Amino acid sequence: MFLDTRPKVPVHVTQTDETFPCAHDESLLQGMLRLGRKGIPVGCVNGGCGVCKVHILEGQTHPLGPVSRAHVSAEEETQGFTLACRVAPVTAIRLEVTGKFEKPFRKGFAATANA
Ligand code: FES
Repeated sequence: MFLDTRPKVPVHVTQTDETFPCAHDESLLQGMLRLGRKGIPVGCVNGGCGVCKVHILEGQTHPLGPVSRAHVSAEEETQGFTLACRVAPVTAIRLEVTGKFEKPFRKGFAATANA
């Protein structure tokens, strides 16, 4: 069995109050998915759709690839907004999911309840 011994730092999602360990060479979104966690919305996982947009409240990240200006403006980027599938953690991270945050199960329940 593969034992993942890479050094990791904690990533905390404020809305769900979840914390998961993320390696320095994987994106915040990959770290969450590897553990089967939820909290950050998952889309293309390739920087194209923008659903994983987050606001980094504390900590430092480094880019794994370009962040699309269609989803994060240059001004937003200076304020700490980024795409969770495009950055990896350097230090412990505290973030909030922005814009399109919604809980899928509630959305489904509401749609059924209103039918
Ligand atoms: S999941 Fe699509 S941009 Fe990150």
